[in-house]
Amino acid sequence: MGAALTREQAANRIMVALDYPDAGAAEALIGRLDGVPCWMKVGMQLFYAAGPGFVAGLKERGYRVFLDVKMHDIPNTVKGGANSVTRLGVDLFNVHAAGGVGMMAAAMEGVEAALSGASGPERPTVIAVTQLTSTSRAVLNDEIGIAGTVEQAVLRYAKLAKQAGLDGVVASPQEVVAVKTECGASFVTVTPGIRPAGSETNDQSRIMTPREALAQGTDYIVIGRPITAAADPRQAIETIIEEMI
Ligand code: C5P
Repeated sequence: MGAALTREQAANRIMVALDYPDAGAAEALIGRLDGVPCWMKVGMQLFYAAGPGFVAGLKERGYRVFLDVKMHDIPNTVKGGANSVTRLGVDLFNVHAAGGVGMMAAAMEGVEAALSGASGPERPTVIAVTQLTSTSRAVLNDEIGIAGTVEQAVLRYAKLAKQAGLDGVVASPQEVVAVKTECGASFVTVTPGIRPAGSETNDQSRIMTPREALAQGTDYIVIGRPITAAADPRQAIETIIEEMI
């Protein structure tokens, strides 16, 4: 990424995965991170439990929100879902590239429709889930029925997302260079599978440290358990920021 980051710029590129069963548990972590200008990622576990009101509360406190609900349905339904989350004011959300170009384009139509009011929300960044990082080549080939390597599938999905007018993709840090080469430097990459040096791998397999992921050119790093499960989450995120600057 060229020039060194300031502390604030580094924090701006961290998305903390709030993988919690309810708002109370999430708020406890948010309180520990008070004042750090990171993003908050709300996934399906928390969103299904805590709902739009929780997201609105994050926005009121000035957080940028990645709503990680991975929409995948018929185009008309995804258009409606995209419309709703845009009106909610999320900054970034995602849809599955496996829904096809028509479904992804419908998501963009839903966004545009939500923005048509004079004082509406800002346009969210819309990204596609390519191939889940939990999918092995054997699962891809033998169960899902897609031939070739995982990286080939990821790149094909990334190109479809760009064709549909999306802004970027969720990808593993190992795929960033290929995605940017194929879809352009401004095509956004959001990368989970991040583990600071010396931390637990958990169930992630193809991991990189925050510094390594930035060196690949990724735009945002998603970090969950290395922060949320740390004895001192504040210290954990500060250490990650130190590593990034
Ligand atoms: O705790 P950990 O850092 O592994 O959390 C990673 C987060 O990123 C989780 O919320 C997980 O759902 C999400 N994610 C992922 N791999 C993807 C897409 C999302 O790990 N391909």
